[in-house]
Amino acid sequence: MTIRTIAFQDDTLRLLDQRKLPFDHDYFTCRTAAEVAFAIKDMVVRGAPAIGVAAAFGVALSAREVLDRAPTEFTAYVEEACRLLVAARPTAVNLAWAVERQRRVLYATAGLQSSARYERLLSEAQAIMDEDIATNRTMGEIGQRVIPDPANILTHCNTGALATAGYGTALGVIRAAHAAGKKIHVYADETRPRLQGARLTAWELRQEGIPATLIVDSAAASLMRRGKVDVVLVGADRIAANGDTANKIGTYMLAVLAKEHHIPFYVVAPTSTIDLDIPSGEHIVIEERDPAEVTDIGGVRVAAPGIDVYNPAFDVTPHEYITGIITEKGIITQPEGLL
Ligand code: MRU
Repeated sequence: MTIRTIAFQDDTLRLLDQRKLPFDHDYFTCRTAAEVAFAIKDMVVRGAPAIGVAAAFGVALSAREVLDRAPTEFTAYVEEACRLLVAARPTAVNLAWAVERQRRVLYATAGLQSSARYERLLSEAQAIMDEDIATNRTMGEIGQRVIPDPANILTHCNTGALATAGYGTALGVIRAAHAAGKKIHVYADETRPRLQGARLTAWELRQEGIPATLIVDSAAASLMRRGKVDVVLVGADRIAANGDTANKIGTYMLAVLAKEHHIPFYVVAPTSTIDLDIPSGEHIVIEERDPAEVTDIGGVRVAAPGIDVYNPAFDVTPHEYITGIITEKGIITQPEGLL
């Protein structure tokens, strides 16, 4: 099965609109960097690797917007688009990483004609996309070796083809274990408030025919206590040099529970999610989102009027709770020294 989360065709970026899944399979089209920044902010496209890839195409689109401008104006415009794209969401480092790769292309091509610069930015975005899929497949192969057979796997949020350029990170390991013939069953957390587990992971697992059960986030503790979970697999949005990991809100809670119940807890992430510039998780900026995500469900208000809301999109799991970080370069505990 191929889910095309991101496609570039005829100078247009097409993003599978994840706000509407699983019921509508509409594509959101972007022709400008501002439209891509909006799509990232509004979570048309989401998941750390996927927003990095989308942003890389966004930089290329910004170049196309100003093909007729003088070189310095062209550069200034694309530079401004880079700033706009990076600011769309603060936590996932893949976004800044991908835009930085494009910024390097922007300056490396300073002597060329605008159309050639656009082509170079486009092929770099394509390379980032292709590399992401290849990386995910490698992580899947490495990661599936630590999955017992049979196994009940608990996962959180969506880390599949929808969160990446294809295949997935934690869900990629699940896919690879299933493809290897292991008898696996997945517990998918619904993942309040945006319900990435219920809407997206459950959809992907159903498409793949991987046995799975949807649970509310708060069911994890009792499942673990009853011996129903053999391993926890999650993705990551930013991993600090010491291994502290930011991921979807609720991940830290799972890590604490896993430790208490002596269950292995793995983070699955490409090395592009590692941020060696920050020594620990304390330095990770946690995005806070619209209170309406908590007070409303499906556009219907469920919370008492006037109540204050705290809605962090991510939390940080300290490295001591993480059994291993499954990357395309192997399974590690401390990123320092790996890259
Ligand atoms: O807010 P989201 O849906 O973008 O959050 C996604 C996650 O937290 C994922 O676990 C993470 O980006 C890794 S995706 C391969």
